[in-house]
Amino acid sequence: MTTIENKLADLAKKSAALEPDENTRNAWLNTLQNYCNNYINTLSDKPTFNQNTQLNLADLRIDNHKKTLDSLLKTYTKEVVDNGLKPSSGGHIGYVPGGGIFTSALGDYLAAVSNEYAGIFYGSPGAVSMENELTNWFKDLFHFPSDAVGNLTSGGSIANLIALTAARDAHQIKGEKIEKSVVYLSPQVHHCIHKALRIIGLEDVIVHHLILDENFRIDHIKLEQQIKVDLQQGLHPFCIIGSAGTTDTGAIDPLDILGDISKKYNTWFHIDGAYGGFFILVDAKKDAFKGIEKADSLVIDPHKGLFLPYGLGAVLVKDKKAVFKSHHYFASYMQDAFTDDILNPADVSPELTKHFRGLRLWLPLKLHGIEPFIACLEEKLVLTEYFRNQLSALDFKVGPLPDLSISYFWYPTDEKALENKFNETLMTEIHKDGTVFFSSTVINGSYVIRMALLSFRTKKETIDKAIEMIKRCLARTKKQLDI
Ligand SMILES: Cc1ncc(COP(=O)(O)O)c(C=O)c1O
Repeated sequence: MTTIENKLADLAKKSAALEPDENTRNAWLNTLQNYCNNYINTLSDKPTFNQNTQLNLADLRIDNHKKTLDSLLKTYTKEVVDNGLKPSSGGHIGYVPGGGIFTSALGDYLAAVSNEYAGIFYGSPGAVSMENELTNWFKDLFHFPSDAVGNLTSGGSIANLIALTAARDAHQIKGEKIEKSVVYLSPQVHHCIHKALRIIGLEDVIVHHLILDENFRIDHIKLEQQIKVDLQQGLHPFCIIGSAGTTDTGAIDPLDILGDISKKYNTWFHIDGAYGGFFILVDAKKDAFKGIEKADSLVIDPHKGLFLPYGLGAVLVKDKKAVFKSHHYFASYMQDAFTDDILNPADVSPELTKHFRGLRLWLPLKLHGIEPFIACLEEKLVLTEYFRNQLSALDFKVGPLPDLSISYFWYPTDEKALENKFNETLMTEIHKDGTVFFSSTVINGSYVIRMALLSFRTKKETIDKAIEMIKRCLARTKKQLDI
């Protein structure tokens, strides 16, 4: 053998570990399967939250010492799974829960093993077509025209970023025009919208935080008044942002009217439905989404409303030209891959190479059908009502009846000045207990505890367990504050 052949033989031997044989693969899969089965089977017995942040970083650090999968899974449990929040648990009733349906994990596994390239049609016509079929389904669901473009993103933040970039480009907001352009939004809009404006160079646009009604929906009369004032002052009303389910209170803005106002004043109408959008699937809620089809761009998040593990948001935009302005690119090293007639995900997103994330949604939808998803969403709405009733029976105050499955509650105290402190202490006790996880927020200056029901594993039993936990924590809080 020549020197170079010797070298290659040696390197092939050393790198062979990266292609384990079938027996090894089966053994590892078996170990992992047992681990995952045990994880799922015991999940509801475990706390949802553990405040411990003392980790053994030495076990996480990368070095050149090989470990067995068994020992690595022990580390994974001890350092990762057992600390912080368990998003896969039905007891996750804080922030906006995701979930993690098993069939989606199978999709991810398959996508990772086959590693299909879902950025450009030429690379994998099937993978790209599958992703395009998913966005076609979204278009049908939200009554968007068939020539709208869509993209599967890593989550809601990036989806909002893509939408607002298109808004910027459609209205050519640049240079001196920036400081005269106005964005209208609810003070309850998700903070990723503000981040997106900063990232896309629109930090200096005028942002009007709109007045809300008693249900935390945008007051459209005040919105129109504000637009008229801005026009009189020579400003450029540029974009109205509505939410189909706000993060704080689950409110759906009056989308239909906002759509009409947007048309009248020729603004871009964006809707963030990352949390609430998929509730449109529930018959009883369809009316609340009336007008969603009037949006120029819409964000929805399957890793929230379709219970997928983290890693899948989506955006729809009607104006393909506006989207292409920022994202479509031609480079000579890509010349073989260029197609004119099929939409490439890379033309609608900052990403070129990406995880083939369509499979993690396509597989569950095809295996289960859509029905169980709808039932699960409806269950969350009914559970919200059930939970609020239980809380009222315990003398808690609850926020206004929410449009969807996010609401809030607080314990009233005789002395108003003590109320915030009492509820903050109660929240601390709930976090210490950890059986079920809630988060807090501030509504109209008052500290309140938020309940966000969106995990597919949240059931009546979970709510009953939460009520027992709240009773325990309430007693501890009263004792602590001597009330
Ligand atoms: C309404 C809304 N929009 C956007 C986001 C951001 O989505 P992501 O966390 O997937 O980036 C969230 C997250 O909770 C949300 O509730």
